[in-house]
Amino acid sequence: MTSKPTTQVEVVHQYQASMSPAHWSFSLGGGAGGFHNLGYRTDPSIPPVEASKALVEKLLQMAGYPSGVVLDVACGMGGSTRLLCEHNDPSNITGINISEEQLEICRKTVPQCHFQKMDATDLQFPDESFDLVLCVEAAAHFNTRNRFLSEAYRVLKPGGKLLVSDVLRLGFTNVIRKVAGKQNVPYENYVADLDQYKGLYKGAGFARVEALDATEQCVWNLARYVIQSSSGEGFRLKGYGQYLKRRLFTGWMKFVVMYYVLCYSEKACS
Ligand SMILES: C[S@@+](CC[C@H](N)C(=O)[O-])C[C@H]1O[C@@H](n2cnc3c(N)ncnc32)[C@H](O)[C@@H]1O
Repeated sequence: MTSKPTTQVEVVHQYQASMSPAHWSFSLGGGAGGFHNLGYRTDPSIPPVEASKALVEKLLQMAGYPSGVVLDVACGMGGSTRLLCEHNDPSNITGINISEEQLEICRKTVPQCHFQKMDATDLQFPDESFDLVLCVEAAAHFNTRNRFLSEAYRVLKPGGKLLVSDVLRLGFTNVIRKVAGKQNVPYENYVADLDQYKGLYKGAGFARVEALDATEQCVWNLARYVIQSSSGEGFRLKGYGQYLKRRLFTGWMKFVVMYYVLCYSEKACS
């Protein structure tokens, strides 16, 4: 048996569990706004929904707010898809996800867009269908990230743009996960540094690739937000318990994350 079905089952379970408003990652990821990402904070005091919106805005800004036919890969609960509607005709926007539960929420929150259950590594669209492919904080889960990049390249029109925010994990955590049999972040997706990461896009065919290190804004400022936040958003314990839980969360991020990267790439015009 290949690892593909196991990866998907693990990922669907992971996000199913974290969709509950009682789950800390739902609150930190701005879940109420339809987002499930770490966000982009130029200041640690920025609250979750605002930070999640800023992350998508930052990516769109990198590509000069492209318009046309848009694919939102791993669209979560529709937060990014809704934001895309501010810059594009909603009827030209399609979101895909492997989780039907999340897609049901998307269809309610952004009914004017199209949603389909689909694996990012096996896109069911003809060649050269889209002007923009967006993928926020999901590619590390794909089996594999490389297969997704090839598919994104294939479905983009000449001159089309790919925007990705991605988490690059420290190598030893991948080894630990492999030994433990965890597959929600496939071992094959490990890259050593940003140059190697950019090389993946070039290998898939992309002509222009820009990778921005946003670890400070997306990871460390979130850690500072968690430590400082007086509301304790996302953390249900009170007093000392809450303090411990925050410290554990920020320690975990330091333990796991090497880079948070924002990547803009372009398919050459033919
Ligand atoms: C961290 S969440 C990001 C969600 C959304 N992009 C956002 O920023 O709010 C990761 C998402 O990737 C989706 N996902 C994971 N693997 C996938 C795959 N192979 N194909 C499509 N979606 C996938 C999960 O179901 C989840 O919605």
